[in-house]
Amino acid sequence: MLMKENYDVIVIGGGSMGLATAYHLAQRKTKTLVLERFSFLNQKGSSAGVSRQFRIPYPETYMVKMVLNAIPFWRELQTHTSARLLDTVGTLWFGDPKVKSSEGNIGEAEKALKANKVKFTTLDARQIEQQYHFKDLPDNFTGLFQADGASIDLKATLETLLKSNQNSGDVTLKEDSPVTGIRQIGKLFEVSTSQGVYVSEKLVMAPGPYVDEVTRFLGFSTEVIYWNMTSMYFKKTDPKINYPTWFVFQDPVGPSGNEFYGFPEVSWDHPGYIRVAPDFVMKPLTDPSQRTSIPNQDEVEYTCAWVKKHMSGLHPKPYFESTCFVALSQDQNKELIIDFAPDSVPNHRNVVIYATGWAGKFVPFLGKILSDLALDGKTKYDISHFRLGDKIFSSLR
Ligand code: BEZ
Repeated sequence: MLMKENYDVIVIGGGSMGLATAYHLAQRKTKTLVLERFSFLNQKGSSAGVSRQFRIPYPETYMVKMVLNAIPFWRELQTHTSARLLDTVGTLWFGDPKVKSSEGNIGEAEKALKANKVKFTTLDARQIEQQYHFKDLPDNFTGLFQADGASIDLKATLETLLKSNQNSGDVTLKEDSPVTGIRQIGKLFEVSTSQGVYVSEKLVMAPGPYVDEVTRFLGFSTEVIYWNMTSMYFKKTDPKINYPTWFVFQDPVGPSGNEFYGFPEVSWDHPGYIRVAPDFVMKPLTDPSQRTSIPNQDEVEYTCAWVKKHMSGLHPKPYFESTCFVALSQDQNKELIIDFAPDSVPNHRNVVIYATGWAGKFVPFLGKILSDLALDGKTKYDISHFRLGDKIFSSLR
């Protein structure tokens, strides 16, 4: 007969959010189990790929505040590793000032930065070309440069969190453990995997794009869309040229979303190359099983054409391509969803859910928030904008 193991909190999902949550639970001496369906540090979910953007510009003042609040948590995590987690090179947002994209609008971001007293500089099209190596930009383009933007070494971030959890006497980590069932017995949740049965009063669900495969056991699903996101690596032909982290705002052209973002060369991810990616997908997926490591070739072509026309010092053909996989809320601005399970679930406030959103820049901070919600049922940080459960959770019963 299988023995049942008891924990204070079970975290479902061992990607960046799950590991960061366990890290903060361990700081509060909480007996924690992390269940990962694949292996730790896998490339199958939203933690795939090795770099992310840390940026302060957002069109909403509360999002700017969220990033500012995340900074001390990055500093704290940094003390646990000699790897540099944030390579601070600045963020350049540029493009058509009229465009309101999925990431917002340049003018609105300037207002939100000012409201939070964050310093930035503004640029016109020619200054962007002269200072940041872009070329052939339309005359009406404007830009803002914010110096605290950084490339995040996501791989080192995950490794640091994993190692700290492995060294903690409070955290048990189990991989190859997809959840096969969740039963509620009174106040307890009994979580089954092929390897065992685990019991706790509190659950944190942070399974990334596999969210619905877990929530269904509690009788609800999430209204999300799945993006298989493309990335391309271009060889630097001019070693002196380096880019900041950047994002370009442009109206869609035909089937192309026409928005792109990129990174400078970073030491931990294909040195000698720089990564550029489209911030749109041509064909959203309907199910996580459709995830593929082969990028959509139309997205690749649109990105290559933009790089060739507007970037200097790069070979025009990508040498490597990769993908990462995210679930995004159907809410256009694709923000984070942090909430308790819907009240159709008995003891729903003992189930904390993190689902969707571009959250790489928040990893250690969200770990703190999710762990506070699990242990205290509340957090001192303002998450009111992310409590979207009633909009995106739908009952399966
Ligand atoms: C972000 O910083 O949230 C982000 C950057 C590039 C593409 C998508 C999101």
